Amino acid sequence: MTSLNEALAQTAHDVERALDDLLPIPEGAEARVVEAMRYAVLGGGKRMRAFMVMETAALFGVDRRCSARVAASIEMLHAYSLVHDDLPAMDDDDMRRGKPSTHKAFDEATAILAGDALLTRAFEVLAEPDTHSNPDARCELVLALGKASGAHGMVGGQMIDIASEGKTLTADEIGRLQALKTGRLIQYSAEAGAILGRANQMQRHLLVCYGRDVGAAFQIADDILDVEGSAEDVGKATGKDAAAGKATLVSILGLERAKLQADMLAKQAAEHLDSFGDKAAHLRALAALVVARKN
Ligand code: IPE
Ligand code: IPE
Ligand code: MG
Ligand code: MG
Ligand code: MG
Repeated sequence: MTSLNEALAQTAHDVERALDDLLPIPEGAEARVVEAMRYAVLGGGKRMRAFMVMETAALFGVDRRCSARVAASIEMLHAYSLVHDDLPAMDDDDMRRGKPSTHKAFDEATAILAGDALLTRAFEVLAEPDTHSNPDARCELVLALGKASGAHGMVGGQMIDIASEGKTLTADEIGRLQALKTGRLIQYSAEAGAILGRANQMQRHLLVCYGRDVGAAFQIADDILDVEGSAEDVGKATGKDAAAGKATLVSILGLERAKLQADMLAKQAAEHLDSFGDKAAHLRALAALVVARKN
């Protein structure tokens, strides 16, 4: 069995190749938007969502060429969410993945369009026949990603995040905010492997529960890194949540209790995988890494 780090590096390599293939630069003045899309999605990022897609798909023996396309698709959607999240109208962040944010490297209009086109391309890739031989599987992926990313998912969470600035939320309200803005896409990433692998309902449910708990732990860890991390390690400015009055678990529970909550969620995530045996070792290790990470 390869180590988690080797497996993560292999996935990063495979997904970068798929992204490179899926985003050719056209002729003409529209080339600029594709250059900005490539800038946003290639060359950086932990590729955690991609890894979850590919590892959950591997539980069912799915061809890696198919799972790499679905992994590339979720990384496009995720990159779009980051490009828009960094815009001056939202978090106003100038640095992302250790380099200038897309609107800094290009301009705001191009960044908005690049985000729009990454979002659209993510769905287009899922619908293309090369993604799965069974059209039902492709349709289920489109449906699941639509639910996870729209007003009842990531976008809804971003709206609550913005609307909650400067307000004190309860732990339950913060949990809901985070489940939507971050959790749903991570949950989808685990569910996508089950869809590709035509898993039975129980297997799919267990992977959804795993993704939900990893997602919750992941956002708490992100909020902790905003307080404790260095900009150099995390590749983005830190100390911004408190300055912007963001509603985070750290803001209401403090660092220590937020860490305990993240650890508890990571353990719970791994327990959902018990019935998958040794094949799920990397996914279990990933749950632990999500809360131990420094970037
Ligand atoms: C950052 O996500 C945005 C959040 C949902 C907290 P990641 O920490 O996964 O960002 P990359 O892809 O590794 O840059
Ligand atoms: C962003 O959460 C989540 C999405 C982009 C949907 P944050 O605003 O906390 O992410 P970072 O810290 O900028 O990466
Ligand atoms: Mg934000
Ligand atoms: Mg942000
Ligand atoms: Mg953050």
